[in-house]
Order: sequence, then structure tokens, then C-alpha cells
Amino acid sequence: MKSFNLDRHWNEVGSTVNDLANHHMKQGVFQRGELTEHLEQRICEITNRKYCATYGSGTAALTQGLRNLNLPKGTEVLVPAYTWISSVSAITLAGLKPVFCDVDAFYHIDLAKAESKINSNTRVLLYVTLLGNPAVSNVGEWCKNHLLHLVEDAAQSFGAPLSDATFSMLSFSPTKPCTSFGSGGAIVTNDDEVAELATLGRLHGKRTNSDVTNILGVNSVMSTQEVASVFVNLDYLDGHQQRRKNIATTYYKELAGVVEFARYRESSTYSKYVIRHTNRDSMPGTVHYPVLPPTEKPYQQAVPEMSAQLQSTSITLPNCAYMTNAEVEQVIEGVKAAAGTVDKSSYTISG
Ligand SMILES: Cc1ncc(COP(=O)(O)O)c(C=O)c1O
Repeated sequence: MKSFNLDRHWNEVGSTVNDLANHHMKQGVFQRGELTEHLEQRICEITNRKYCATYGSGTAALTQGLRNLNLPKGTEVLVPAYTWISSVSAITLAGLKPVFCDVDAFYHIDLAKAESKINSNTRVLLYVTLLGNPAVSNVGEWCKNHLLHLVEDAAQSFGAPLSDATFSMLSFSPTKPCTSFGSGGAIVTNDDEVAELATLGRLHGKRTNSDVTNILGVNSVMSTQEVASVFVNLDYLDGHQQRRKNIATTYYKELAGVVEFARYRESSTYSKYVIRHTNRDSMPGTVHYPVLPPTEKPYQQAVPEMSAQLQSTSITLPNCAYMTNAEVEQVIEGVKAAAGTVDKSSYTISG
């Protein structure tokens, strides 16, 4: 069974997307322009932020956003060990040093453990809202107390409240809460200077092609087709989130006592619904992530204890707004069948 039914999604919205994109492309606008500006305004309204700058991907947005902080080379950035590689490679590509921290039962950076990693060279906490869970509510205050910038990788949590970050990154790649059916990302912020640099940074540091180069930047914009897709999909953001939440509730009810569950906060987007079991490889779903960033080739470091424990037994169950109830049932039956023979004490994690 597919984890995401992008085909069904496209079949519902594709003609609306194509009409909208066509309207602008017929006028010769294939990137940037009026529709992009309109999309950025709508994202500001939804996220309750003053500024939004769209990028060609979430990874590009995060990398440029970190570069724009203008920190000395090698400055340390606290980052969870349990995340997608982009959260970490963006730090390295920005000339900074990722410092891997363990996670908690929400699969988020554990602030109590991260505290012991802070030294005089630490200037940023990169908080990843993994699984679609919004950040823990005291993270902004925690960063202020430790004189750290809070940068939020909200790739999986668009639709949930953002934290009080210097900037937050969004992603519109295919498995995210609001997809472009291609690539795309954004920086959202309330900070005037961060916004100005984010806007310059996506076009070689220029306001227009004929402007001077104000800062070093990249070429990273969304196509009109991608912008039109996100624009149309914004109308589905809440409805899709509600459907994923309902499916998650069904999984929780039906599988209680059979598997362990990742923890979820009330306003989670449920973009990944994760359970744990030692026999996860026989279950319907996808392992996020088979290799964690610390052990990837560029880093080669140990994975912290809780992250390693979670990684070895976690599996993401299919959870997509376009799944049928019969498919949800099928997943539940598949999980129960695979779980049947295994001793529960071997995968229980406290906390
Ligand atoms: C946690 C996290 N961070 C960053 C990214 C990168 O976003 P993008 O694919 O838009 O570059 C992703 C998406 O895969 C993600 O899940």
C-alpha cells in the first residue's frame, strides 16, 4: 500500500492548479511575479508572520537563512540527532558546526539534554518540529535564557502553530502538509532584517536581476506551476490535517496495547504517524529514517541513546487524507498480524 496517495490528490485538484498556472504562464510568467507574491501574503496570514520569502526547496531556504545570520565559521548549532539529513546538512553548508543532541518521546530535541552541550561557541538551536508536532511551548524562552537564536525547521508542521523563532522554514515537497507536487520551501519571520536578507538571498543577493549583489546568495525560486499548486492546496490544509488526525486517532484506538506510539501534541499536523515495534519490518509503512544524520558519511558520529532506541523500532504508518477507511483497516490488520508473535517488553520505551 502507498504511504501517500499523491495520484488521488492530483486527480482532485490538478485541473484547478493547471488553470491557475496556465493563466499566469500564458502571460509569460514562469517564476516569481504576482502569483508568488499573493502566495507569500497568504502564507503570512496562515502562519501569523509579517514576512514570507519562498524558495526552490526547504533545504535551500534553511541553508540560506542560516548563512544570513552571519555567524563566524564553525559556530556551533544544536540540532536533534533524529531528523532528516537536510536539517543538518544546511548547518554544515552554511559553514557552521552541527552538534547532535538526543530527542524525547515526541521525537524532538530534548532541551534538558541539549543544555549540557552549550558552550561559549554555541549560538543557535535548530528546533525540528518532526512528525508535525509543534515545538514545546517554552523553547523561545529557553533560547533567550541561553542567548541562542532559535531557528525552526517546520518542514513537517505547516498548519500547526510556529514557535517564536528568528525564522521558521517551511517545505512544500511531496509528503508535506501542503505540497507543490514538486519542490518548494519558504522562510517566514517577523524580523525586518531577517526578511530582507531572506528575500535577497534567493536571487544572488539582488532585488532584481539588474540590482547590485548585496549579499552572497543562491538562485532558488519556485516555478509558477509549483506556486499554483501550493496556492490551491492551501484551501485543503485544514481539511487534510483533520483527516490525518482522525486516521491517527483510529490507529491509536485500534493498536493500543499492540504497539508503542510516538507522542503527539494537540495541534500536530500528524504529517508522520509513528509507532514502535521490534517486528516493524513486517509492518505496512516506511522507516523514517533508516540512517540517522550522525552516522551519515559526512559526520560519522555516535547516535545518542534515546535516538538509537527509537530509530531501531520506529515505523511510519500510511496516513494520508486520500486513504479510504478500508485501507486504514488494512493497515491495522497488517500491524496486528506482524505484532502477534513478539514480546511487548522488548520495544517499550519510557518517557
Ligand atoms: C525535517 C525536514 N527538514 C527539512 C526538509 C527539507 O525540505 P525540502 O525537501 O523542501 O528541501 C524535510 C523534507 O524532506 C524534512 O522532513
